[in-house]
Amino acid sequence: MRKAVIIGGKKLKGKVRVSGSKNATLPILAATILLRGETVIKNAPNLNDVTTMIRVLRALGQRAEFHEPDTIKVSTGDKVKHVAPYELVTKMRASFFIIGPMLAKMGFAKVPLPGGCAIGSRPVDLHIRGLEALGAKVDMEHGFVIVKANKLKGNRFYMDFPSVGATETVMMAAALAEGDTIIENAAREPEVADLANFLNQCGAKIQGVGEEAIRVEGVRELKGVSYRVIPDRIEAATLIIAGAITHGEISVEGIIEDHIKAVLMKLAEAGVEIRLEDNVAKVRVPDGIKPVDLITSPYPGFPTDVQPQFTTFMSLASGTSVVAETVFENRFMHVQELKRMGADIKLEKQSAIIKGVNKLSGCPVRVSDLRAGAALVLAGLVAEGETLIDDTDRHIERGYENLIEKLNSLGADLRELNGISENGFGVK
Ligand code: EPZ
Repeated sequence: MRKAVIIGGKKLKGKVRVSGSKNATLPILAATILLRGETVIKNAPNLNDVTTMIRVLRALGQRAEFHEPDTIKVSTGDKVKHVAPYELVTKMRASFFIIGPMLAKMGFAKVPLPGGCAIGSRPVDLHIRGLEALGAKVDMEHGFVIVKANKLKGNRFYMDFPSVGATETVMMAAALAEGDTIIENAAREPEVADLANFLNQCGAKIQGVGEEAIRVEGVRELKGVSYRVIPDRIEAATLIIAGAITHGEISVEGIIEDHIKAVLMKLAEAGVEIRLEDNVAKVRVPDGIKPVDLITSPYPGFPTDVQPQFTTFMSLASGTSVVAETVFENRFMHVQELKRMGADIKLEKQSAIIKGVNKLSGCPVRVSDLRAGAALVLAGLVAEGETLIDDTDRHIERGYENLIEKLNSLGADLRELNGISENGFGVK
């Protein structure tokens, strides 16, 4: 169990580069199950979730290796094992994305039902109903989802909610189905588009990602390719807020404006000056932080994955903000910890009423999930004194590549813990 201590109060300065997208890399790795031959994935982030997905692919009989600094090589044969390993799939929810490719490739898949997590129950009913629409027979047995189909058949499928994962599952399964599939009310996230672009380079015929319906024309075979994943827009937003909350002046490289337009607009409303040129965002806060109301929603709305970080930012605004979370049912776990640091936040159903305060004070905080962890790191950067973040390996390192090194390269003071200092925190 790794910990980190943050000595707050440093204004961040300098330049930092965004890594490749975790949420594009994970489904693209799952999609390699559909292929034959060698795939090279470039700009892949080196983080725990990617390592877990690589281990899942190996357990299914594929060759998969990570080559420093950012390349994954996957070699897929004609056969893929039918049963996904329980301990790996339940370790990371995104592993469930292998069910569509396994079914499409082998006509059978047995995958553990992913549990919920801190932010919500995270059901997979839309994934399953989508596969049924393509002709799969679905059984549940001892916590496993078992899907069978001799040959998947294209169909129309209406997504009750524009689920990112379910859209990716149906798109991957439909890629090798017989005939055409239309996914209505599909998710429009950039990571869904990146997966579609990857599959099209492998020989798939997918159109309409980002519009109200995705059309997939089934093909007989898909071949491995070399592909570069998009930058991680959630990491980009997190780094921009780190520069803003510390009243520093930083440049964040690897910005695709369209991918974080909603975040850029809301930060500008809050008084953050962001100048964009050649995929670099130059960030400063000329005056104070203004209070801004926010509602999260599926892309192109404000991303739920940046809501915790934005809530931290608003806890230091010069007034009251209301942040409403509409995507997950329990994504305010960071609020309790922010209040222990001195934030003035009241939760009412799915909204946080945030009354800006002048300062936060450092203390030991508990991290419940990946983005809550990022929110508490941002709070620690600006809090008075030391903030102790526990379990960084269980959460933050799962989804952010070298976040501590990146922040320290901008002048922050974060230290990995070992041993105990006189004030109860351990510092190197
Ligand atoms: C993806 O998760 C991301 N993960 C999440 O990022 C992100 O928060 C989420 O999309 C929303 O943008 C990856 O891409 C690996 P959803 P996913 O299906 O696909 C409900 C992070 O921090 N739903 O779009 O699981 C669900 O309960 C992670 O990087 C169903 O009801 O999200 C939720 O309320 C966290 N039935 C809503 O849809 C289903 O079958 C959005 O979930 C599927 C989803």
